[in-house]
Amino acid sequence: MNSNQSHKITINFKQENKQITMYVPDGSSILQHFEENGEELPYSCRNGCCTTCAVKIVSGTIDQSQGIGLSKQMQSKGYGLLCIALANGTAELETQEEDEVYELQFGKYLGSIKNEAGNPFDI
Ligand code: FES
Repeated sequence: MNSNQSHKITINFKQENKQITMYVPDGSSILQHFEENGEELPYSCRNGCCTTCAVKIVSGTIDQSQGIGLSKQMQSKGYGLLCIALANGTAELETQEEDEVYELQFGKYLGSIKNEAGNPFDI
């Protein structure tokens, strides 16, 4: 792919009730490009671990190869993480409530942990 190519990335920013479109250079960070151009999107760890920046991929494609924070199952359901997403084609993305994705990915595991008597974290 031509390294001078840019990709049309549209973000449906649900929390702000607005849609933003920018052209992101091929292989560049989508989150960082939007920030550098005046649009701050949801994030926290910036390291692919917390799901604050989770998006639903409405159409198109993003490069998630640097990420470990989202399970393959979540990726196959069309979710991605903006903080580690690189532009590799035209895409339309939709921000998610952090709790929504966190619950989908971790809820079933954390909810199944039994709290036994004598646990040092018991109050
Ligand atoms: S900001 Fe934490 S996973 Fe992206």
